[in-house]
Amino acid sequence: MILVTGATGYIGSHTWVELLNAGYKVLGIDNFCNSSRKVLDRVEKITGQKSQFIEGDMLDEKFLSSLFRNNPIESVIHFAGLKSVGESIKIPISHYQNNIHGLLNLLKVMQENQCNKFVFSSSATVYHPNNLIPYVEGMSLGSTNPYGWSKYMSEQILRDIEVADTSWSVAYLRYFNPIGAHESGLIGDDPKGVPNNLMPFITQVAVGRREYLSIFGDDWPTPDGTGIRDYIHVVDLARGHIKALDYLINQKQSLTINLGTGQGYSVLDLVKSFEKVSGKKIHYQIVERRPGDIAQFYANSQLAKKLLDWTVEYDVDRMCKDSWRWQLKNPNGFGE
Ligand SMILES: NC(=O)c1ccc[n+]([C@@H]2O[C@H](COP(=O)([O-])OP(=O)(O)OC[C@H]3O[C@@H](n4cnc5c(N)ncnc54)[C@H](O)[C@@H]3O)[C@@H](O)[C@H]2O)c1
Repeated sequence: MILVTGATGYIGSHTWVELLNAGYKVLGIDNFCNSSRKVLDRVEKITGQKSQFIEGDMLDEKFLSSLFRNNPIESVIHFAGLKSVGESIKIPISHYQNNIHGLLNLLKVMQENQCNKFVFSSSATVYHPNNLIPYVEGMSLGSTNPYGWSKYMSEQILRDIEVADTSWSVAYLRYFNPIGAHESGLIGDDPKGVPNNLMPFITQVAVGRREYLSIFGDDWPTPDGTGIRDYIHVVDLARGHIKALDYLINQKQSLTINLGTGQGYSVLDLVKSFEKVSGKKIHYQIVERRPGDIAQFYANSQLAKKLLDWTVEYDVDRMCKDSWRWQLKNPNGFGE
């Protein structure tokens, strides 16, 4: 059985679907601090399988202990965490507490139960912003904000555990910018409040929930002046987790890989692609740059291809199309 933490979140729910489709037995947990209970029915609807789920908090060690006592958990995919860079700057203590303390609780209980296969949601934000692009796994690490540091520290904690106990194998998956949604339009990204990420902002403007898109600077040293990122379809990303899990199970070795497409798109590229596939005009305004942002980054994704035979299937138009279908079918997200 695979334990998926943060199972009802954006990436967790898509990975849950892919795991069930691939025949894995999955137990999901979440405290719903950034997700909806409705995801449970939706996952069942998509997969035609009953989803096994228990509500609980990563900060509750007793809950985690009883979870492992009562279920034959062999591996863990750990998504649960807070992910807003802006909030992490404003309220660092709760970010560190959730992301670091939650991780430590989980690892401690795993160790007590001889469960030592772990897939970790890391991020491209662990790369030092001064690195040249594309980012390669061996480049220097560092961050500009507490969220990024929490991922950096989490990676370090896991590496220390691996040194102390060589029976552990860990997949460090450094995600680039996941967008898109399941083709059913039943699950997708549903940020609370003002979206921090570009795609939900675009889709909320398209569906009339917001008047215009704010673009943070058009004077970056890029061809059109807007920031460049490596957008990856969330289903491709989810499938990367299955491949990484299979690697841990079969090779019994750790791995650190980028999960990105290897191609950068600017904010205006993404807006144009979205307008093309949706037929909607996206009104935007240029506003101040955000502190901590950088002009551009994208992945070198060769290592993931080499080690996992993982490549992406969906292009940027398809990412926009699926994001739009999700938003159109769910104008208010999950409505909570
Ligand atoms: N979405 C991105 O752009 C991105 C990029 C890089 C890395 N990541 C990482 O991937 C993981 C998943 O991201 P996501 O986009 O699906 O985020 P998300 O917020 O949609 O999902 C995270 C889930 O974890 C749950 N959660 C948070 N704290 C919890 C706790 N203490 N106990 C139990 N559940 C808790 C939330 O309710 C939510 O359902 C996160 O760790 C995030 O930092 C995300």
